[in-house]
Amino acid sequence: MNVNKVKIDLNYINEGVSFIYPLFSPEGEKILDARTPLTGELITRFKERHGRYVFYTETGGKAVIPPFRMKLAYNMSREIIGEISKSDKMSKTTFHNAEKLVEDILNDISGSDIEIITLLKDLKDFDEYLYNHSVNVGVLSAVFARLQGRFKQDDMKSLTMGAYLHDIGQRRIDPQLLNKKGVLDVTEFQKIKRHPQLGYEIVKQIAGDNPVLLQSILFHHEKFNNRGYFELPYEHLPEFPKIVSICDIYDALTSVRPFRKDAMSPRNALKAILNSGGTHFDYPLVWGFVNSLGRVLNQEGPFWEIHEICELNTQELALVKSEGLESILKPRLLVFCRFVRAVKTISVNFYSQPREVDLAIDTKRHITKVVNNQTQIRSIRFKLKERGIL
Ligand SMILES: [Fe+2]
Repeated sequence: MNVNKVKIDLNYINEGVSFIYPLFSPEGEKILDARTPLTGELITRFKERHGRYVFYTETGGKAVIPPFRMKLAYNMSREIIGEISKSDKMSKTTFHNAEKLVEDILNDISGSDIEIITLLKDLKDFDEYLYNHSVNVGVLSAVFARLQGRFKQDDMKSLTMGAYLHDIGQRRIDPQLLNKKGVLDVTEFQKIKRHPQLGYEIVKQIAGDNPVLLQSILFHHEKFNNRGYFELPYEHLPEFPKIVSICDIYDALTSVRPFRKDAMSPRNALKAILNSGGTHFDYPLVWGFVNSLGRVLNQEGPFWEIHEICELNTQELALVKSEGLESILKPRLLVFCRFVRAVKTISVNFYSQPREVDLAIDTKRHITKVVNNQTQIRSIRFKLKERGIL
């Protein structure tokens, strides 16, 4: 095994920083475990006992990072964490988790990552909205992926970097076109659609061959119905760009844009995400997003309105009776009919005896849509009243 001894200059290390490897004294004694934050007290003690330099052993051929680059990257990560704390996308708890997570990821740096973070910071001068959006998508992706609890740390880091830079290709597109109000013509849309490819090229030059990072950028506009920018078969795509994509849509829906004055509330955006299952995203992804991030993002009260109408995977309609205790998408329901959906209409066949169903117990039924067409809602509610159900 190739073992390098890398020197760490304690004069350049800020309080709170942690390393992905243990630290050793000049005599080779282990003085700090991997990923343990260096407190001010520890830095002082190490300097007193061992002098200005300590070491970590590094296996493999990873690039040695000069101390000034470590300091630069650390300061950049602090700045980004500062930006996140100003964002209104995150509850206090999410921010707290995100702060630890992002700090961990950004401290776990290699030489090319610093260039990547610099790309992100440069976005601020190019377009303030794009910068804030990119930071939000990075944090949302990191938190969503971590809540799933099944990804390796290296992949989490590459995913977060990819999410930060998913729209970096827009730097090579005319800003007037990016911020155009109104409908884009075919040529204009073709230009916009190049940004995943442009971003991939920018980042590949810097980061080299990092599949998770590059795929997260290149495929973030693909869709479940295969009608994304590259029209690729969704089922064969890796899951990382799908995570970036759903976080991208959530953040876009909850932001004010030139072409849409009103930002959606978190609750309505989560319902829009749910309703995009089966077209934009696959159902397990939207269910996972709403269930895991729903309560964190929606701080405005209950998710469901009592007697809201939803569609189930069993081709049934149901009224929401009460919020789910276990998770958002497992409320108590009154299932009242079967339905057949045509292009613009929905025909219903009412049950003589509506059934109470608790989705926390009934694992075969899942919510696939929230009915939001006001004409349909009025018509269904009228029929429910006629039958004495409402
Ligand atoms: Fe994009």
